[in-house]
Amino acid sequence: MSQKGIYNSDLPNITHRGKVRDTYELNKELLLMVITDRISAFDVVMDTAIPKKGEVLAKMSEFWFEKTEHIIPNHFIGLASDPETFEMISDFPIAESLDEDLRKRSMVVKKAKRIDIECIVRGYITGSAWSEYTKTKTVNKISIPQDLIEAEEFPEFIFTPSTKAEVGHDEPLSPDETKELIGEDLYNQVKLKSIEIYTYAHEYSKSKGMILADTKFEFGFIDNKLSLIDEALTPDSSRFWSADDYNPGKSPLPYDKQYLRNWLLAQDWNKKPPPPQMPKDVLDKTIEKYIDCLETVTGIKL
Ligand SMILES: Nc1ncnc2c1ncn2[C@@H]1O[C@H](COP(=O)(O)OP(=O)(O)OP(=O)(O)O)[C@@H](O)[C@H]1O
Ligand SMILES: [Mg+2]
Repeated sequence: MSQKGIYNSDLPNITHRGKVRDTYELNKELLLMVITDRISAFDVVMDTAIPKKGEVLAKMSEFWFEKTEHIIPNHFIGLASDPETFEMISDFPIAESLDEDLRKRSMVVKKAKRIDIECIVRGYITGSAWSEYTKTKTVNKISIPQDLIEAEEFPEFIFTPSTKAEVGHDEPLSPDETKELIGEDLYNQVKLKSIEIYTYAHEYSKSKGMILADTKFEFGFIDNKLSLIDEALTPDSSRFWSADDYNPGKSPLPYDKQYLRNWLLAQDWNKKPPPPQMPKDVLDKTIEKYIDCLETVTGIKL
């Protein structure tokens, strides 16, 4: 199984299947999030698994949850491959079906009362922020007085939340719209924490030769305490650039998906399912990049 990767986790009683992760409810307090080897590009899930990708993402989330605990508590209990964590869930029926490959890709987390926005922090002007800025000189409807070139570092890191759309695309939210949704007090708290975690992770990554251009966090309440949930600071939730590729004026390609995106753009494909079948060299290079990203940023060797 591991040569081909894990496309579907296929465990009993799934509660949610996202583009990449399969989530199971263990009991009223705990969830099991299986990070599969699925990969998406242009919001479409490819039909081939990227072996080891799930393991890389699981390790990276684990690393950052532990590293950022001094800033904010989080939902992470442990990876199911960790004997102590596995022991904790060994009485649940699902544990029987968790082989070694699945355990490495599974996080046991505390269930939270989720805050329904995506908390995005940007350090550099790129992607959708750059396209909005070129049209209206705003980002998330906030005016940006400075003249910036593409991929330039913002004078100050900015908080640009968006909706969590059940269907379709997430929409950017202005500060006032966000306050209306979640209240002013909570807005101030998640903004502060998001920027604090980003600042820490950006600095850390930079010292390892990687630029964390932007990232998305989710928050919720666990035992009435504001906590970081979901995944944290992985290539799936963040844009990592190699410092070697960074030249303001043009956005570097994201470190992890560059081969896949370039290859997809060269295909005659309308960016709607079904996606084209990925050739072996694109697959191999993509795996390599994910592993490289993990090793460079965290120092962890698979
Ligand atoms: N500790 C937690 N408690 C409750 N819900 C959580 C927790 N951590 C993450 N979640 C939620 O679990 C869900 C995980 O879904 P997942 O990210 O796999 O798919 P999705 O968000 O529906 O789509 P996409 O694949 O585009 O991200 C998200 O809705 C996330 O907000
Ligand atoms: Mg999600």
